[in-house]
Amino acid sequence: MKSIAIAVAFLVISLCQFQILAQTPQTPTTSGGNDLITKTCSSTPHVEMCKTILQSSPNSKGADLYGLAQIVMNIAASNVSNIYESINQLQNGTTVDSFLDSCLTDCLESYQDAIDQIEDSVTALEFKAYNDVNTWVSAAMSDAATCDMGFKEKQGYQSPIAQMTTVFDQICKIILAINKLLSQGNSN
Ligand SMILES: *[C@@H]1O[C@H](CO)[C@@H](O)[C@H](O)[C@H]1NC(C)=O
Ligand SMILES: *[C@@H]1O[C@H](CO)[C@@H](O)[C@H](O)[C@H]1NC(C)=O
Repeated sequence: MKSIAIAVAFLVISLCQFQILAQTPQTPTTSGGNDLITKTCSSTPHVEMCKTILQSSPNSKGADLYGLAQIVMNIAASNVSNIYESINQLQNGTTVDSFLDSCLTDCLESYQDAIDQIEDSVTALEFKAYNDVNTWVSAAMSDAATCDMGFKEKQGYQSPIAQMTTVFDQICKIILAINKLLSQGNSN
């Protein structure tokens, strides 16, 4: 018991220190709104999608750059688990075609990894560990791409989730761009 309590106390202390370290240099909090959204989104490769996502989120009002990153990250998290569910359902109806079936099985594995990596990205963002955000989001994108590529190994096949993968990839690129601004200490 006692050693657990000490271990917990130690963990809390080290997490606090980590937070303090991770917060330097201090990013001034600028209030959000459409100006910040427009400015931020113009630094991403998918300006319109970025604006649509952020403007339709009630949380973007008054959010700073960090808050905007969190909004897009949460969208990515729900996206990736929706895609997993879609693959699950597709596979349910395709037992006749063994190639398709095996592709979908591989995709479930890739997307399970992508889900885990986006979860790790959410945590990394909480800790403002921007390098880790970059690592995990990139890994999730590469897993999504692996799924898509599987279908191309046989002629006449194409990924039934190509459209969803494209959107997820774009969302991830938006996160990477905002994350880059954050890592550079930009706040507006
Ligand atoms: C992913 O998010 C985008 C933007 O919010 C949305 O348009 C799209 O439908 C989502 N896709 C899935 C599979 O959840
Ligand atoms: C797969 O199909 C079965 C039987 O039709 C159904 O009970 C199950 O809910 C389906 N699973 C998914 C993930 O759609």
